[in-house]
Amino acid sequence: MGAEAAARDIARRVYGDQSETIERYVDILTSRGVKWGLLGPREPERIWSRHILNCAALDGLVPQGSRVIDVGSGAGLPGLVLAILRPDLEVVLVESLLRRATFLELAVDELGLSPRVSVVRGRAEEQKVTADVVTCRAVAPLQKLLKWTTPHFLPHGRLVALKGASAPEEVAAAAQELRRHKLVAEVVSIRADQEAEATQAIVVRRAF
Ligand SMILES: C[S@@+](CC[C@H](N)C(=O)[O-])C[C@H]1O[C@@H](n2cnc3c(N)ncnc32)[C@H](O)[C@@H]1O
Repeated sequence: MGAEAAARDIARRVYGDQSETIERYVDILTSRGVKWGLLGPREPERIWSRHILNCAALDGLVPQGSRVIDVGSGAGLPGLVLAILRPDLEVVLVESLLRRATFLELAVDELGLSPRVSVVRGRAEEQKVTADVVTCRAVAPLQKLLKWTTPHFLPHGRLVALKGASAPEEVAAAAQELRRHKLVAEVVSIRADQEAEATQAIVVRRAF
């Protein structure tokens, strides 16, 4: 079995009762997502390994019943992937570009996720919403993310940024910003399943 077919099998196991919904979301991503230019033409062939399982790896870092803000969702990564996996979460997808926000609204509607999942078109730093967890992937370096998102998750929440290999350097580069906001950052290795590829996330919390 090829790596992508294996990743799809792992995703079926991870998603259990939600498998049908994640399959429908992948269909939307690989058709309209590519047509609208939100996803590169080569992404459909690695959608399960590179995108779905990568984002689902955040599962263990999001406490039960959390309100989540996903900053810079793009086509819904990781916000929609997480919202489908975890029906206990309330998820707000924040996206600054109109076309991407419209794509998200259509997907949320077609997948029947409203009102538990909602879309806000705008810049994260201009929003007044707060949450238990702020998530993001591939949006900005940690330093900038802290400036944009700290008001959304303080005092008791956390920022969870999917980063991959760059995580330790980003934490080091943000040392001053972390100190200024009295925050601590930890790099954690995560995976969606024991057979899935591991990745790294940065978890930022208030230092008490
Ligand atoms: C490189 S894409 C990543 C999209 C998605 N998170 C992913 O992993 O595929 C970055 C996204 O963040 C959005 N974005 C950038 N700055 C933002 C901000 N300040 N507030 C909200 N969205 C922002 C962009 O419009 C874009 O859709």
